[in-house]
Amino acid sequence: MLLGLMGAMPEEMNKIIAAISNKEIIERGGRLYYKGKLYGQEVVAVFSRWGKVAAATTATNLIVEFGVEKIVFTGIAGAISPDLSIGDIVIAQHLFQHDMDARPLMRRFEIPLTGKTSFEVPSVHVETMQKAVHNFLKNNEKFRTKLAEHNIAHIQMHIGDAASGDQFVSDKKTRNALLRDLPSVLCVEMEGAAVAQVCDDYSVPVIIVRVISDSADESASVSAMNFVTQHAGDYSLAILKEYFELITKSKSL
Ligand code: ADE
Repeated sequence: MLLGLMGAMPEEMNKIIAAISNKEIIERGGRLYYKGKLYGQEVVAVFSRWGKVAAATTATNLIVEFGVEKIVFTGIAGAISPDLSIGDIVIAQHLFQHDMDARPLMRRFEIPLTGKTSFEVPSVHVETMQKAVHNFLKNNEKFRTKLAEHNIAHIQMHIGDAASGDQFVSDKKTRNALLRDLPSVLCVEMEGAAVAQVCDDYSVPVIIVRVISDSADESASVSAMNFVTQHAGDYSLAILKEYFELITKSKSL
């Protein structure tokens, strides 16, 4: 099985790309796709750039041109729920597009002509990633020590909803409005629901894993950029290592 690996930023993908063996590099539509093997798994890895359109075109290309049978997206997100701390990990169940609003023609958040206000990740995939993140939190003592030195300790895993939109949320007013309007949402980012929509169109499973880099408040830009340069790539690679260990043992996942 060929698996697509996506992130939005080079910092989120560089460590993954460096770890791929027998790399072939293919350029399409302004993106570089890295095809090869990662921890025994055939993969195509790419960073999409930020935002829903860039993520959607990249996901479409992964499916149509490369024929990937599943996409795993890893990257950072801002916390919407007050229960989340920087360094926590969210595995998305439902993905909303918080900036989709075709009222009064449709319900707020409804994706036109789908009848849906969110896209769901099949529970089997959420559960497998849950096991992988559990193993990530159990292993990786050295990495966790490094995080603790940066005041990131007691990392929690959360399973729940995420919202995507073409907006970097960096004020409490916007964050609180999101929480009020989409109360099930744990975190906010800029790509996941777009990738989930493409995957829904093509019946390709998707898994979205986000690490909390900021609190989507006035400190978000500094916090997110520090986190992405210092930790995001290590998180993504270490989580994927655990995930591939599980799925290569059980071919059906
Ligand atoms: N990705 C990481 N932090 C974010 C935020 N605060 N808003 C949108 N996307 C993000």
